[in-house]
Amino acid sequence: MMNVLDDLRKKIDACDRKLLELFEERMAIVDEIGRCKRKHGLPIYDPKREAEILQRYTGDAQQFFSEIMRLSRARQARELLPYNIVLIGFMGTGKSAVGKVLAHDLGREFVDLDQAAEERIGMSISGFFKIQGESAFRALEQELVREFAVYEGMVIACGGGVVLEPSNVKRLRQTGRLVLLEAEPETIYERLKNDTSRPVLGDQVQLETIKKLLDSRDEKYKRSADLVVNTDQKNVQETADEIIRRLLQGES
Ligand code: S3P
Repeated sequence: MMNVLDDLRKKIDACDRKLLELFEERMAIVDEIGRCKRKHGLPIYDPKREAEILQRYTGDAQQFFSEIMRLSRARQARELLPYNIVLIGFMGTGKSAVGKVLAHDLGREFVDLDQAAEERIGMSISGFFKIQGESAFRALEQELVREFAVYEGMVIACGGGVVLEPSNVKRLRQTGRLVLLEAEPETIYERLKNDTSRPVLGDQVQLETIKKLLDSRDEKYKRSADLVVNTDQKNVQETADEIIRRLLQGES
């Protein structure tokens, strides 16, 4: 029994070596295509071509090729998007969720500034707001922006209030492109109505509060943004895909 298993494992190893060889060959061609397209000013990301390849396969094979293409995109993105991707926008627009997927798809490190803040203070943001007040939180937020903006090749999800402080925007801009996620107040309300972790929205989330706050911040969001992506009718993966596609197409 063990002999049979050993033999099969050897076959698998041989198979993996062949796969790796072909994978490396394919990736070298991907690099070549990237150089060729750049030389001729053609867009790097070609969704039609990707769809054409994928529709040749079904089931597991389709997933296999979809993953290979994701890796190819990540490889090109490293070279073509040589900056941090910084997600800004109102609460409930999906910055953290989209950021995680983006980082995964681009093979990058992800930092969520709210999470980093909570780790630093050892309590929830709403707890901190109650004890120290909003201005102490904004000071901490500024400190974290200063720390993380110097890194390269990251995906950074900001808290919704980061753009209120102009120096934050300036710092994030030095190393990154700022992508604004937008949603209608009604969508935000639906996403946050049972949430108690957003102190600026009060204990009971109201549509009116969202509308007013959004209105007062809207200009700052828009002014800070290199790219604006609406998230109303999109899931997290669709939003991440759109960001990658539009950045690769040089939209910002
Ligand atoms: C805030 C947004 C929150 C968090 C804090 C304040 C804001 O982040 O930083 O509660 O002023 O918009 P999210 O946008 O990730 O919820």
